[in-house]
Amino acid sequence: MTDQTLTLNEAKPVPVLPDAQTVTSITHHNDWLFSFRVTRPQSLRFRSGEFVMIGLMGDPHPETGKQKPLLRAYSIASPSWDEELEFYSIKVQDGPLTSKLQHIQVGDEIILRPKPVGTLVLDALLPGNRMYFICTGTGIAPFASLIRDPELYEKYDEVILAHTCRYESELKYGADLVASLADDPLIGEFVGDKLKYYATTTRENSPRMGRVTDLLRNGTIAKEFDLPPMNKDTDRLMVCGSMALNLDVKDICETAGMTEGSNSMPGEFVVEKAFVGEGVTENFD
Ligand code: FAD
Ligand code: A2P
Repeated sequence: MTDQTLTLNEAKPVPVLPDAQTVTSITHHNDWLFSFRVTRPQSLRFRSGEFVMIGLMGDPHPETGKQKPLLRAYSIASPSWDEELEFYSIKVQDGPLTSKLQHIQVGDEIILRPKPVGTLVLDALLPGNRMYFICTGTGIAPFASLIRDPELYEKYDEVILAHTCRYESELKYGADLVASLADDPLIGEFVGDKLKYYATTTRENSPRMGRVTDLLRNGTIAKEFDLPPMNKDTDRLMVCGSMALNLDVKDICETAGMTEGSNSMPGEFVVEKAFVGEGVTENFD
């Protein structure tokens, strides 16, 4: 793991990109995952769990030489109260954006469109007692935001963060974050013993193995924390992963009689894609 950090007063003073923000720190977690922090636009308000469009300028057009912003959706991984914005990113070697974004350095600028949106927000759920965050891969990013938000612990007695990845090195960002919360001077007292973390791998031996969906269905996670079976009156779920994961957890929820929520119509569970599938692009602007 490698780290770079910058104090804010060292940041470049003059933005040269549209909606430019300056990179203040970068951590590479393994060959295909990194996280970074950027300055936060003063006017940007968001709800923990939302996503924004970020990116870099694309290559110059071969004939006109004009450059257009190359933007992708990214969950904000930091909580709504944080002075900076944090992102947790995949490195896709031939990905138009992340093939370049993975090489950013402290002091560089990225583009950040200040229009946060998303369904993984506390407002999209009906009141409940127990919150399940279910995620795979970089789908942990919106929950990295929410588990640092005091409002989560004011609204819920218990929070279960269940994260499945192929390999152990992919769990490190989440595991380190969870471990840091108990002693965090700002959020520690809200977290207390409410946050329960269950991380598994599927393609490498680790202390806990298996797909989160199987472990939910067969009651392994509930048993680990001495929780009752999933119940629509008390339990709420937020889901963020591949399309397959999202559909499977949606099925588990609907089988338990839960309805999907949205910003306009809160329900018992909410779902968001952690990325768009092979060969598909989505325009959120
Ligand atoms: P793209 O052309 O966008 O993707 C190439 C291929 O790589 C995709 O077809 C897919 O198969 C795979 N891929 C893309 N992103 C991922 C990923 N995150 N995990 C596994 N495989 C992937 N990405 C993040 O890294 N962190 C986030 O917080 C994040 N939040 C998102 C929130 C939303 C609502 C959506 C829709 C997507 C999010 N993404 C996130 C995916 C992100 O928008 C880009 O797809 C990703 O940065 C790769 O960009 P690219 O241009 O390099 O490759
Ligand atoms: P597996 O290794 O058994 O495929 P991916 O990189 O394909 O998005 O997968 C990330 C992690 O999510 C992997 O551990 C993968 O397990 C797991 N996963 C993929 N699809 C599902 C699903 N439908 N339900 C539960 N876990 C899934």
